[in-house]
Amino acid sequence: MAVKFNGKYLNGFVTQAEFDNIYSQVELCHNVLHAKSGAGNDFLGWLDLPFEYDKEEFERIKKAAEKIRSDSDVLLVIGIGGSYLGARAAIEYLGSAQYNDLSDLKVYFVGNNISPDYMNNILKLCEGKRLSVNVISKSGTTTESALAFRVFKKLMEDRYGKEEAAKRIYATTDKARGTLKTLSDKEGYETFVIPDDVGGRFSVLTAVGLLPIAAAGFDIDKLMAGAQAACKEYETCTPDNDCYKYAAARNILLRKGKAIELMACYDPDWTLMNEWYKQLYGESEGKDQKGLFPASVIYSTDLHSMGQFVQDGSRTMFETVIDIKAPKQDFFLEEDPENADGLNFLANQNMSVVNANAMKGTILAHNDGGVPNIVVELDGKDEENLGRAIYFFEKACAISGYLLGVNPFNQPGVEDYKKNMFALLGKPGYEAQRDELLKKLGE
Ligand code: PA5
Repeated sequence: MAVKFNGKYLNGFVTQAEFDNIYSQVELCHNVLHAKSGAGNDFLGWLDLPFEYDKEEFERIKKAAEKIRSDSDVLLVIGIGGSYLGARAAIEYLGSAQYNDLSDLKVYFVGNNISPDYMNNILKLCEGKRLSVNVISKSGTTTESALAFRVFKKLMEDRYGKEEAAKRIYATTDKARGTLKTLSDKEGYETFVIPDDVGGRFSVLTAVGLLPIAAAGFDIDKLMAGAQAACKEYETCTPDNDCYKYAAARNILLRKGKAIELMACYDPDWTLMNEWYKQLYGESEGKDQKGLFPASVIYSTDLHSMGQFVQDGSRTMFETVIDIKAPKQDFFLEEDPENADGLNFLANQNMSVVNANAMKGTILAHNDGGVPNIVVELDGKDEENLGRAIYFFEKACAISGYLLGVNPFNQPGVEDYKKNMFALLGKPGYEAQRDELLKKLGE
């Protein structure tokens, strides 16, 4: 059981010599990462996290999850960016894109947009339901999540009264500082910690991800066991380290002008994992006017929309195909004696065989079309394999960022839109900028 890098479909695009030649750079990045001497080295808490986590808090997370499952129909998870994507990705991957339709406890993610329609719909879904809230924000001041929390705090207090509401609100935030921590202490919410040295996009294996994932009914012990296995497996720098081969391959391809990485998976349950990967890599690498643009597709669905472009459009991309070796449960395709649709050639076998052949055929076609394909293989679709995959992509991201010569752990560009938004909305202190922006808008 391991996450494997399969470079077979890079043939004709990347040579072994290129892997050999970049290896010394990978080794340097590895040394800098493990010596904690590189850029952003105060945000490396994720590196040893699978072993070095707060065990007492881990048990509290499991207890809180149990309570939520026993006293709630709905868990509202309030957070944005790194403060929600990992949890949502894990829940929808392990529990399916239809998780909420199939489960007793519904998990709704709010505070990740500012759409009034979205807010109204979630409020409707909460009517007559027993509620719990997990508000997640390191700073406590992020507009989207703070605004949503304002709404749901009031809803909880109106419905349950302040005392009971406080027992149903769980806050995941900084251990000592910030608006949310201060408010939580004042109101008496149970709090969980976002460690100082773990950035949002690397935080899924902290309380940020673990509480919602456990509340949704998944085994966080197994998730951590998978991450531990990967932590050991990819700990040493050798030419056979699959995590490092992935980082090297994408960097080699970038230097050849393949500026877009298209993550492709043949299972729609991977959809939110695609979003998690996009934040992880986009925010880590996209800076100083450099970086691969992370994009994603779900096949075979998107072969009917994006397939034409991938096969035949501008040759700017490579694909990273997530090959999940086994579904949770296969589906047997029966023969139809009438065969009116002519599909009996697909019958008498499992649907996963059809899906696997769609994948192989597509990889070969895209290779022929000039698209290099990296394949990342996962053995199965369970907590342990997911824990391995999370760690694999986090570590490869760090190595990739260092190979690129950027600080993979900061996100200076995220602030720019906020200044404009605050100025336009009239936040005190932004008056001069507001006048300038209104002039630009012609208002
Ligand atoms: O990765 C990041 O740092 C961001 O996506 C943050 O997680 C996001 O902006 C939310 O920030 P906060 O947790 O402070 O509300």
